[in-house]
Amino acid sequence: MSTGTTKLDVVVSDVVPVNELVTRFHFRRRDGELLPTFSGGAHVVVEMRDGDRTRLNPYSLMGSPLDTREYTISVRRDDVGRGGSLFMHRSVNPGLEMVVSYPVNLFSLDLRAKKHLMLAGGIGITPFMAQTAQLAGSGGNFELHYTCRTASLGTYADVLQERYGRRVRLYHDDRDERIELDRLLSSQPLGTHLYVCGPTGMINWVRERAAALGWPAETVHYEHFAAPQPGLPFDVTLAVSGKTIRVGEQQSLLEAMEAAGVDPPYLCRGGVCGQCETNVVSYDGKFIHNDHWLSEEDHRSGCKIMPCVSRFEGKSLVLER
Ligand code: FES
Repeated sequence: MSTGTTKLDVVVSDVVPVNELVTRFHFRRRDGELLPTFSGGAHVVVEMRDGDRTRLNPYSLMGSPLDTREYTISVRRDDVGRGGSLFMHRSVNPGLEMVVSYPVNLFSLDLRAKKHLMLAGGIGITPFMAQTAQLAGSGGNFELHYTCRTASLGTYADVLQERYGRRVRLYHDDRDERIELDRLLSSQPLGTHLYVCGPTGMINWVRERAAALGWPAETVHYEHFAAPQPGLPFDVTLAVSGKTIRVGEQQSLLEAMEAAGVDPPYLCRGGVCGQCETNVVSYDGKFIHNDHWLSEEDHRSGCKIMPCVSRFEGKSLVLER
């Protein structure tokens, strides 16, 4: 079993379509006990048994951390992705027995903050569902700015506005509504922490403007999971395990290792936690680094790879696994 990924046997207790792209899934423990506690911003890795293939995708927990009778996640359907979201939408129904990891939080609230300023884009709203519930339960001071393509794709916007009223501001792309970011970031009280989750462009924009406006790095929090990308198949020799494996077009290097019985550690499966970092023994070719963990120098050196999201193209690759 991989480091940090203790498993929970759960059953799907409900499946709720939310809008044309998003469906919510509820899980309860099969033994009827309470689930482990978690804090706002945590995710679980959901195991999907799809024929002879097992997919493991991370999803933010979006229920209240004060209620551990069930875990809830929301999955946005991606018709051109590698199939995990389609499997959830098409094959997961109430009563299905599944396995999820214990919750892990790589996007936690800093409870020393005097105020929490939250910026969400699209399905990036999900961790904020749990964080706002946590803060509301403890009297925390927060403000949420949520951008979505259209009102109908504003997943949970109605719920959030009903719960928190003026603490939630909505921006719709089709009405040309935009966050006035510089003004917003410049008008916060001392001790505010900033949280952003959404598309890569939004995260980069917010981080860049916050840095330019003098926000200390330790007050800026972001969730930046990368989805593994398909690519050309390639062969890898695993020096410690003594195996040579093929990584398929739609498979990540981490998934190929797992399919071969090698069990590297992981937490996020999205290139941000550092758990799966693997040393390169030798290579002849080029790396396609997609992680947000290694430094640019590490990427250039050719000494390390994050197998959950990164790939390789070339003649030969030997890894220390
Ligand atoms: S599992 Fe987190 S970086 Fe690879």
